[in-house]
Amino acid sequence: MTDAIFPVSDEWAKNALIDDATYLEKYQRSIDDPDGFWREEAQRIDWIEPFHTVKDTSYDKDDFHITWFEGGTLNIAANALDRHLAKRGDQIAIIWEPDDPSEEGRTLTYRELHAEVCRFANVLKANRVNKGDRVTIYLPMVPEAAIAMLACARIGAVHSVVFAGFSPDALAGRIEDCQSNIVLTADEGLRGGKPIPLKANVDAACEKVSVDTVIVLKRTGADVPVIAGRDVDWAEAMAASSEDCPPEVMDAEDPLFILYTSGSTGKPKGVLHTTGGYAVWTSMTQEYVFDYQPKADGSMPVYWCAADVGWVTGHSYVVYAPLFNGATQVMFEGVPNYPDHSRFWNVIDKHQVEIFYAAPTALRALMREGDEYVTKTSRKSLRLLGSVGEPINPEAWDWYHRVVGERRCPIVDTWWQTETGAAMITPMPGATALKPGSATRPMFGVKPAILDPEKGTVLEGATQGALVITDSWPGQMRTVYGDHERFFDTYFSQYPGYYFTGDGCRRDEDNYYWITGRIDDVINVSGHRMGTAEVESALVAHELVSEAAVVGMPHDIKGQGIYAYVTTNAGVEDSEELRAELVKWVRKEIGPIATPDVLQFAPGLPKTRSGKIMRRILRKIAENDTSNLGDISTLADPGVVDDLVANRGS
Ligand code: WT7
Repeated sequence: MTDAIFPVSDEWAKNALIDDATYLEKYQRSIDDPDGFWREEAQRIDWIEPFHTVKDTSYDKDDFHITWFEGGTLNIAANALDRHLAKRGDQIAIIWEPDDPSEEGRTLTYRELHAEVCRFANVLKANRVNKGDRVTIYLPMVPEAAIAMLACARIGAVHSVVFAGFSPDALAGRIEDCQSNIVLTADEGLRGGKPIPLKANVDAACEKVSVDTVIVLKRTGADVPVIAGRDVDWAEAMAASSEDCPPEVMDAEDPLFILYTSGSTGKPKGVLHTTGGYAVWTSMTQEYVFDYQPKADGSMPVYWCAADVGWVTGHSYVVYAPLFNGATQVMFEGVPNYPDHSRFWNVIDKHQVEIFYAAPTALRALMREGDEYVTKTSRKSLRLLGSVGEPINPEAWDWYHRVVGERRCPIVDTWWQTETGAAMITPMPGATALKPGSATRPMFGVKPAILDPEKGTVLEGATQGALVITDSWPGQMRTVYGDHERFFDTYFSQYPGYYFTGDGCRRDEDNYYWITGRIDDVINVSGHRMGTAEVESALVAHELVSEAAVVGMPHDIKGQGIYAYVTTNAGVEDSEELRAELVKWVRKEIGPIATPDVLQFAPGLPKTRSGKIMRRILRKIAENDTSNLGDISTLADPGVVDDLVANRGS
């Protein structure tokens, strides 16, 4: 199975935008002549003023800068909407599928979406949002989330979307970090039939940070308190607003959005993306990776990326790229297992989805429930499947390919990151023979390299090591919001001259790349990134905890689970109640996605004599690989290890 190769079918090779020869030729050109290559690709975007310089970038410490398409001006919302109106005004842009299948969905044509975006842009202006201001968006997966993001882009405001599963504390931290004065939210969200108290969470967050305005969308109609002078009703504001809103002229390097993501140290970082490069990059990758082109009858294939707009996948592959490319797409509010495990496949049948993009964690959870939930649906419309967010194990790949796609749909396993804006290493369905578990080959313009993790030297040929990217690409993040030094230190200081991804990677004899997972202190839980340091600081914030160390552990469904070692204060009795209380505490501090799977009380942690926690040992214990703990003689107190092994949690 692991050695299996799935060649490109003749049909795909013949009909796709990119076949293998084209891939090789275009890739080579993108590396040999980046200026010429990107000058051409940039024509997919409507520029107001053309750029004069394609690329001006340096990863050197003394001359560190990343600038693309300098001199160019554009508006992102105009590229997503206005320019389609003449040809696609009546084409459906968004098919919204609600959480509960018995509730009626909604469709928005390009014309309708354009009108809503303009109207909401005026609502933002009426609430004193100016170009460059940060707008926090804490909304469920409803069309208004996309409308709000595009409305920000239209007036040059910078959105910061916070996933609606994050806690009030996490929300408050993000509002504070980007000094945002306005929050967009809903009364409640709905997921899997359960309400999520979004407005209440915003109110709680606003006890810690103050904002001037909260615009509240009615989603469930729940009775939520209104704070006079601060809260604005979404629908009322829209009704009072005009549809006339000319797009702001933005420079290519003006900020488009901030999205917080976890790193190996400290608080989540505000990853900042800018306008021109992001537009070109996301649009190009969506077109080639999903072979997104008109069908024989001129209509656009129905595309569905099942990610939430709270993550980068939802930014790039739900809101922006598909709209740049004139797509008709499904936007899904729900979850894969509600009302039952056929939901994805029912939605695919209902809307005749041809291209489907999801995370391995969802596939593994569904796989476990048996094939029947899949096979009783038709899925005849499906042509192409995508995977994103974490390594896909060969078993899940096989199931996706054989059961879901009935062996006729290629799988594009796309490796990328919040920082990279869009897909970096990925197959293209008409070009790339597939190997289950491999993200295969680089996207145009991407120069990956594998380094010896210790020495930092470049490893050639079939090898394994630290994955770096040797040169800039248009959709690269430009800074950590408010902390440019942290940007350089996090990504460019460890291996000078390279962008360090944080991932380990193997390259095989066919030059295929296999991502092996994070090699820093970041864990990937259900395709979501979690910094071990963040969970640790949540734990030590509890009054009974003196110290905590968190590592990843293998997890059948989530990919990785969270294993926490906790040392309580002297005199505190470790109990099941306290364990439950601490687990709950982390959920409250960060959100349900940070829930520790295992919490082990540890009277002592393995430390070197200089006081550094030896995470290697903690990882081994969490993985139940205790026969091989390596050299523990350098520990200040080797005895703590025996206790940890003896009391290993599960
Ligand atoms: C990390 C980035 C990609 C957008 C959603 C997640 C892991 C992502 C893959 C893949 C193996 C993958 C990496 C990466 N990852 N895609 N196809 N195969 N690993 O974005 O939250 O910024 O996480 O997700 O470890 O560094 P993110």
